[in-house]
Amino acid sequence: HQARRLVVAVDGPSGSGKSSVCRAAARRLRAAYLDTGAMYRAATWYCLDRGVDLDDEGAVALAVEDLPLSLSTDPDHQTVTVGQADVTEAIREARISERVSAIATNREARALLVAAQRRLVDEAGFVVAEGRDITTVVAPDAQVRVLLTASAEVRLARRGLQMGGTQSTEALQRQVLARDAKDSTAVNFTEAADGVAVLDSSDLTFEETVDALVSRVESVR
Ligand code: DC
Repeated sequence: HQARRLVVAVDGPSGSGKSSVCRAAARRLRAAYLDTGAMYRAATWYCLDRGVDLDDEGAVALAVEDLPLSLSTDPDHQTVTVGQADVTEAIREARISERVSAIATNREARALLVAAQRRLVDEAGFVVAEGRDITTVVAPDAQVRVLLTASAEVRLARRGLQMGGTQSTEALQRQVLARDAKDSTAVNFTEAADGVAVLDSSDLTFEETVDALVSRVESVR
């Protein structure tokens, strides 16, 4: 029933609420949902599983080249498998979050993952795709391009809630800000590129943020 291709590209830093906002928007729009961060995480899981030295760029690129990844784009059933392993939960573990930048900053690995993401976007037709370089590299021709931001305080607070509030705020801040700083050396997701709308969710509730994204899509549909 997808009459035509409609791509909603959303980028933003950690804790901007991207994943939950995009998944909820996709549900409401009856669109597919593509979590590209999950692909970087799955690649990290695979490298660790195979004992690949994450500092060895060539070895990482080779591993990503034959990454047996399968990713669901159904917003209601987010499953990620690598080979026979269901890694849906495992890719959210701290050991992955701490190392995923090694994949994100690997040029060859990025190129391979971007190519896979473009294929998934094409297959889906009507899709909400989120990450760090969707509006600029993966789908710069998307009809809706949004940079979802929030103030550092708000992002850190949200991340703290997401992680159950178990770690000290200071350690969390260091971890999240360090990861964003590292990742932003590979892709710029802190400023909106030409034609990309900024949606600042600092003073919005979750529902208001979803509404804002959905309205943008409705207006071009
Ligand atoms: O959004 P996330 O926390 O699941 O992302 C995991 C990592 O992957 C994070 O370090 C940023 C990186 N990433 C990226 O470089 N490009 C994307 N399109 C998506 C994620």
